[in-house]
Amino acid sequence: MNNNPATDRTRRKFLRDAAAVAGGTALAGASGLWPSLAAFAQDPPGGCPTPPAGGAQFQPGQDKRPIVLRKSISALSAAELTTLQNAYAALRGLGAGDPRTWILQADMHALYCQQCNNDNTQIHFSWNFFPWHRCYLYYYERILGSLVGDLDNFRLPFWAWENARSMPSPYLTPAAAANSLWDSLRDAGIQAGGNLPAGDGSQARIDHLNNVTTDFASFGGTVFSTGACENNPHGLIHNDVGQPFGQQVDMGNLGFAARDPIFFAHHGNIDKIWSNWNALASGGGTAHKNPTDAAFLNARWSFYDENKNVVSISAADVLDHPTNLRYTYKEFVFRIPPIYEIIPCRFICCDPGPLHEPFLQFDPSALAKVQNLTSGPVDVALVLKGVEIPRGITGTYEIFSVRGERKVLLGRFAVVGEVGNRAKDKTRRMTLLLDATASVRDLAVKERPATLRLVGASRGARPFKLRAEAAELRISAQSTKKD
Ligand code: C2O
Repeated sequence: MNNNPATDRTRRKFLRDAAAVAGGTALAGASGLWPSLAAFAQDPPGGCPTPPAGGAQFQPGQDKRPIVLRKSISALSAAELTTLQNAYAALRGLGAGDPRTWILQADMHALYCQQCNNDNTQIHFSWNFFPWHRCYLYYYERILGSLVGDLDNFRLPFWAWENARSMPSPYLTPAAAANSLWDSLRDAGIQAGGNLPAGDGSQARIDHLNNVTTDFASFGGTVFSTGACENNPHGLIHNDVGQPFGQQVDMGNLGFAARDPIFFAHHGNIDKIWSNWNALASGGGTAHKNPTDAAFLNARWSFYDENKNVVSISAADVLDHPTNLRYTYKEFVFRIPPIYEIIPCRFICCDPGPLHEPFLQFDPSALAKVQNLTSGPVDVALVLKGVEIPRGITGTYEIFSVRGERKVLLGRFAVVGEVGNRAKDKTRRMTLLLDATASVRDLAVKERPATLRLVGASRGARPFKLRAEAAELRISAQSTKKD
């Protein structure tokens, strides 16, 4: 087992020293050390813990605590921040063998991905992504709350990266193991207080998701496909925080991500984004609503609660989080209802002819619609569905529209790494939401349309052939803006 805290501390110290050496080398302009650094990559959790199974089923209504606001980290009072630090310190201080320890809780996350050869319970890359992480945070929050003796009122804060572009300072300083929120295994720039890459997790991106991915399939995935929110912003921020020199460390790898306390603040924000997206639902129809399929609702997972008991909870149990899980987010108001028109097109891929890059093909009536677009506040999204992520592909990628001399960035996305059993690797699928506002007149033309070029944007991100099952433009006359 690698879950012995002493062994783990040694390993982490070793990695920290290795990272410090690599950082110095990178600053000196040499990159020769980087390949050998790869050999220092973290081991998977030792043997992986036994998955908890069964357990008392969560019953809606059983949690009778007050409904308490989850806040942005920047909104925490000094006393709340101290409580948060104390909670993580207590978690890190739990003795080995306790199922609530920091490392075993992190390994719980690993258990539910390929890391632990558990592909049947893989909760990324599908519509399980949102509800599973909500369940996980719920029990993690209860464990932290009980460790500081305030189960009733302790709630996890979130990192609102759409406004706070650098990692919140309590997670950065003091940069020492004595700070329970600090983690040594992060990107050096982020660790030094640097900003996230422009656009990653921006308010504009969230507006875009709310505005045009009104269907859950595009936003949150299907039984076999990743939704747009999971790869951007969710995955991008994982990789921004956790891929120094292309090396996948804690946040950059699903098997280790939950060892970094920022993981829970990151996922708090993801959970808020889901909650806010749901808040946009109104009236009949399915817009901004969760799936009602039994396969979605009845998915059930086991966790350890604050009393070390195995418990189980289903996706259906967590959809109404204020009532059932007793936390809420600040009320979210949109001024303008999302309205968009779909312009269908075909994704033409992998032509054996001279065009090796895919492009879009439109019927004449669709082309006419694009030509009639005014130059006013028009927002054009390109949605690619069923995009194949070939086996073994991880990293951050960019897609460009390329026509003649014009090359326009359509968007970024990330597939967060795993270091599990490669033999269990599967081809996965995802939905991509791209911003085609600036390039629609290159993409939607009859003669020599722009091609879609995929490039790796992080070290180790191997380019792959872009294939999609379907494509469409979603055009809205106005962007939704928050009040
Ligand atoms: Cu389970 Cu953000 O990953």
